[in-house]
Amino acid sequence: MKAIRVYETGGPEKLVFEDQPVPSPGAGQALVKIHSIGLNFIDVYFRTGLYKSSLPFTPGMEAAGIVEATGDNVTAVQPGERVAYAGVLGAYAEYALVNATQLVPLPGDVDFSSAAAVMLQGLTAHYLTHSTFPLRKGETVLLHAAAGGVGLLLIQIAKRIGARVIGTVSTEEKASLAQRAGADHVVFYTRDDFEHEVKRITGGSGVDVVYDSVGKTTFEKSLNCLRRRGMMVLFGQSSGPVPPIDPGMLNTKGSLYLTRPGLAHYTATREELIWRSGDLFRWIEEKSLTIRIDRTYRLSEAAQAHQALESRQTAGKVLIQP
Ligand SMILES: NC(=O)c1ccc[n+]([C@@H]2O[C@H](COP(=O)([O-])OP(=O)(O)OC[C@H]3O[C@@H](n4cnc5c(N)ncnc54)[C@H](OP(=O)(O)O)[C@@H]3O)[C@@H](O)[C@H]2O)c1
Repeated sequence: MKAIRVYETGGPEKLVFEDQPVPSPGAGQALVKIHSIGLNFIDVYFRTGLYKSSLPFTPGMEAAGIVEATGDNVTAVQPGERVAYAGVLGAYAEYALVNATQLVPLPGDVDFSSAAAVMLQGLTAHYLTHSTFPLRKGETVLLHAAAGGVGLLLIQIAKRIGARVIGTVSTEEKASLAQRAGADHVVFYTRDDFEHEVKRITGGSGVDVVYDSVGKTTFEKSLNCLRRRGMMVLFGQSSGPVPPIDPGMLNTKGSLYLTRPGLAHYTATREELIWRSGDLFRWIEEKSLTIRIDRTYRLSEAAQAHQALESRQTAGKVLIQP
């Protein structure tokens, strides 16, 4: 099979397109023939070495396809079943081994592209809004990178709950995408002072929660945007990791809460995985959740896909076609 391999960490050129043997499923595993692969920012962190994996490895954390074969003791899925998954390394390939309990069966109306587009970023938007800071009607959210993969999904989920969304973006095109997804206010954080804008929009009171995946360039000002006892949800670092902080800062800025959540801890049980993915698939089937696929690359073009994501050219989801 064709696959992308990383032998040493570094730039996009470290993504090597080559032949690999098709693996065989062990006990508890399924072999998935991949039809669509989701690109995520975490793929960049693994490629650069910010997140660690033993070398060499096949990157990619999200895909949809068909179960080709199963190992012993697999009851969750059967050969021939249409499935999707997120959070398992090795998706940049024509076949991948996945623990069967991490696969979710796809409803008939959800195609492979939509499934590969929604699993990782959609599950993330779901847990951030339903569990990390369970949003309520009337609350106000500050969401950075609002036109990104997670961003466009999180806006729609926050709006269905009835929250008010202030989204930050870098370009006019991204602003109109965020607005079309439902954002109430859009702020150009590369041009304007977003702290000033958020205070103006909220009449000085601040937001209930910040969902910040940009990290280094937004973290500290984001804390200043929160209301008293508001929650800072730092869930990524697209601009670079946040330097160490003095916890006393959370007191002086208003007895704030700070959390740094990860998807694995919010899909740790099969029950939770099925709940969250079930909501997403239902919303797709009802057409109340729109998936924006920005572009699709061939597997051999994985390096170009990474370049586009890292250089902020993309909005919504990028897929890779094996
Ligand atoms: N913790 C979790 O469970 C979890 C799960 C999924 C994703 N995440 C995180 O969520 C973030 C978004 O992931 P995604 O896959 O949906 O990516 P994405 O939002 O589609 O892409 C990243 C966006 O971040 C913005 N950005 C701001 N500064 C940037 C910089 N210096 N370099 C690159 N981008 C910059 C850009 O939007 P503008 O051009 O509008 O600024 C860019 O389009 C990532 O940080 C990812 O690690 C975390």
